[in-house]
This record gives sequence, C-alpha cells and structure tokens, in this order.
Amino acid sequence: MRICVVGTGYVGLVAGTCFAECGNDVVCVDVVPEKIQALERCEIPIYEPGLEELVRRNSEENRLSFTTDLKSAVVQSEICIIAVGTPMGLSGAADLSAVMAVAKSMAEAADGDKVVVIKSTVPVGTADRVRRVLEENTTHSMEVVSNPEFMKEGAAIEDFMKPDRVVIGGRSEEALGKLKELYAPLVRTENPILSMDNRSAEMTKYAANALLATRISFVNEVANLCEKVGADVGMVRRGIGHDRRIGHHFLFPGVGYGGSCFPKDVQAVISTAQDYQIDFTLLRAVEDVNDRQKRLLVGKVLEHFGGDVTGRRFAIWGLAFKPRTDDMREAPAVIIIERLLAAGAEIAVHDPEAMEEAKKVFGDRLTYSRTNYDALDRADALLVVTEWNEFRRPDFVRMKELLASPVVFDGRNIYEPSQMVEHGFTYYSVGRSAVKPD
Ligand SMILES: NC(=O)c1ccc[n+]([C@@H]2O[C@H](COP(=O)([O-])OP(=O)(O)OC[C@H]3O[C@@H](n4cnc5c(N)ncnc54)[C@H](O)[C@@H]3O)[C@@H](O)[C@H]2O)c1
Repeated sequence: MRICVVGTGYVGLVAGTCFAECGNDVVCVDVVPEKIQALERCEIPIYEPGLEELVRRNSEENRLSFTTDLKSAVVQSEICIIAVGTPMGLSGAADLSAVMAVAKSMAEAADGDKVVVIKSTVPVGTADRVRRVLEENTTHSMEVVSNPEFMKEGAAIEDFMKPDRVVIGGRSEEALGKLKELYAPLVRTENPILSMDNRSAEMTKYAANALLATRISFVNEVANLCEKVGADVGMVRRGIGHDRRIGHHFLFPGVGYGGSCFPKDVQAVISTAQDYQIDFTLLRAVEDVNDRQKRLLVGKVLEHFGGDVTGRRFAIWGLAFKPRTDDMREAPAVIIIERLLAAGAEIAVHDPEAMEEAKKVFGDRLTYSRTNYDALDRADALLVVTEWNEFRRPDFVRMKELLASPVVFDGRNIYEPSQMVEHGFTYYSVGRSAVKPD
C-alpha cells in the first residue's frame, strides 16, 4: 500500500518505518527541514532501540523516504496518516492546531479519494472536526479513521509490530477495511483489530492512559502510607499484583509519572469532562498525587540534611522520564533538579542517553558526567531518578569510595535496603522505611 505519515516524531517515525518494514511504500513528512535531512542520512533524531537499523534497511530498499513536501506525499498515497504533536494548551485541553493545519493541507493536496487516519492522541470529536475541514477544502472523498497509538517509548518497535490490539474507529466500512488490510501483517497471532465509531476510538486512548496514570498514583499513595505504617510497598505490590484481577503492570512506586503523554492526556480528559460539566474528581486527584510525588524525594533530601543543602553536592543518576529513551518531556528529574538548584545545591548528572536533552533544559547549570561513577565524585549523596538497567548492579564499594558521604536516595526502589546497609549506606527509598548502618 502507498502511505504518507505526517509528523516524524516518536509515533510518526516508528509507525512509518514499521509499515515500510511490512512491505508498504511509505513517505514520512515533517515541517522541520533539518530533521528530514538527517533522516535522509539515516540519522535518527531520537533514541529508540532498534529504530536506526530499520530506518536504514527500509530506506536502502526504497520503501521508506522522507520529505518536507506534504503535497507530493499526499498525491502519491492512498492512506494519509496524521501523527503530529497534540501538546497541552494553556487551558489544559489538547492543542489541535497542528492536526487541523495538516488536515487542511491534505485536503488541498488531494488529487483523488484518500483515507485520512488520525494517529495523534486527540480529544473526542476531533475526527468530526477533521471531517468538516476536509469537506470544506476538497471535492474528493476523504474518509476519516481514528487509529490511536498505544506504543511505549523505549519498546516502541516491539509494541508497534506486535500490538496487544489495534483500535480503529470510523464510519466507512471500506476505509476501515483498508486499515485492517494495513495492519493484517501485525496481528497474525490473532491479537484483535477492534472496529468502532470515531468517538469511542478517541475516548479509548484517553481512557487507557488515564487508567495507567491512575494505577501509578494509586501505588504511590499506597507507598507513602506504607512508609508511615512500617510496611514494605515492594511486598504489598507483589501481594496485590498476583491477583489476576489486578496484575503487576504500572504498579511500581517511584518519583511520579512524566513523559510526553500521561501528564497531558490526563489534563485533556479533565478538560473534556469540564466541557460537559463533569468534574472528573478521580483524575484531578491522580494529578495532585503525581505533583506531590515528584517533590517527595527532594523533601527527604532536605530532611536528611537538616533543611539546608546550600553548597552541598549531589549526584543524579537518570534524567529521562523512563529508561530506554532520551525523552525528558515532563520528566520528574527536571522538577527534582530545579528544586535542588533553587535550594543552593550543586549537581552532577549522568544518563545513558538523555545528556544532550538535559543540556537543552539546564545549559551550564549542571555538571554533565561522562559515567555514572564520575557523577559521584565528592557528592554528599546520590539520587537515583530513572531506573536504567545499568544502575541496578553497580560497584557499591567504588560508589562508597567516591561519595563524600554514603547516602543514597533511591526514587525507583532499584536496590534492596538490606544490601545497602550491608554496604554501609544510609538508604532512602519509596514506600519502605529508611535504613542506616548501626
Ligand atoms: N510519544 C509517545 O510515546 C506517544 C504514544 C502514543 C501516542 N502519542 C501521540 O502521538 C502524537 C505524536 O506524538 P510524538 O511523541 O510522536 O510527538 P513529537 O513531538 O515527537 O513529534 C511530532 C512531529 O510532528 C512534526 N510536526 C508538527 N507540526 C507539523 C506539521 N504541520 N506538518 C508536519 N509535521 C509537523 C514535528 O516537527 C515533530 O517532528 C501525539 O498526539 C501524542 O500524544 C505519543
């Protein structure tokens, strides 16, 4: 099939590349010429495991190309996918300006009938708005299919190539049939393609992210209570997770959720509810808990150092909002670092992939360490903020030698308290009692 994907960020680039990998002819479009030029050289602007190899192979085999020319991309395609960003607007609602602009350009460019697919995460009713814009700007038939994306950054290729389910929403059986054909190679293990109306498809995406965010805030609240009552949230998490009605996913306590999706999608649901005079109390609480959770680790740091960290030096391991990505959008690390800097601390950081992104955020306000051990040099404490695998089994003896005082604040519970005490560390984690050597 001939496809164009407009918006070459995480979602557009992964989707376009994976569709090319299935044998389709794909052209990816973006408004940023430098991004397109880099992609033409197979230089990937984001870190996503496995993506570079796929982009290279499919480009070399002429199934995948990149352009800034939306018109020519639309003319040569039967399916036109919108995958541009939908950031949080000032009111909390999703900003649809890029989606609507692309829809208009697609209509103006159309030289025949097309299927327009909305892959961006958009509020309920957006497909209807897009449909109106298309009708106003072309005489050709352009059916609108809502096809929300559920991939996770860091495992995006795997998620895209083996989706748990594919959701497609639309009015035209013919258009939905085209999407089923497109996705057929990805659902050979009988994972379902769920057809529904546009509004239900749009709502499904928000409901999924809102529920996942809710689980995270829930377990963070449980963790905070565990700390007070002397329970271990790790045990509690296992205890509830083995209940098949509950499961283990998204029940890891930590420093709060971040990233480009959960915070803005939770806000967007609250805002949509408000439009219909519904106060989504639960999601407002989910947000409040998350905001508080992002500040909790620094609270522990301040308490440990008697309320004053002026001139103290801290090492931070992990900057990305989660492992296996360089994405720092809404990352808890940003809040943690800003608060420590505001309190007068000096900070040395290390992240396996997000150092360049961090430089864009913090400039010369931090020391950027080449290795995680370099960051520890003369630090008064280490804060673990992102649970990269390479931080899980460190050389504790070396860590203790490098740190000015052996104190670890683990925002992701990647170490065992007993092991930390054994190595002589004072150790704080989330939802478990602090421990210190005798
Ligand atoms: N990142 C994720 O993990 C994820 C997962 C599921 C869904 N989503 C949703 O998918 C959408 C895209 O997310 P993303 O993370 O890929 O965003 P992104 O910010 O990484 O990429 C968006 C891209 O669109 C381009 N763009 C903006 N306006 C354009 C225009 N008028 N024409 C052409 N290109 C344009 C930008 O230059 C950028 O490259 C969002 O709605 C997001 O909520 C994201």
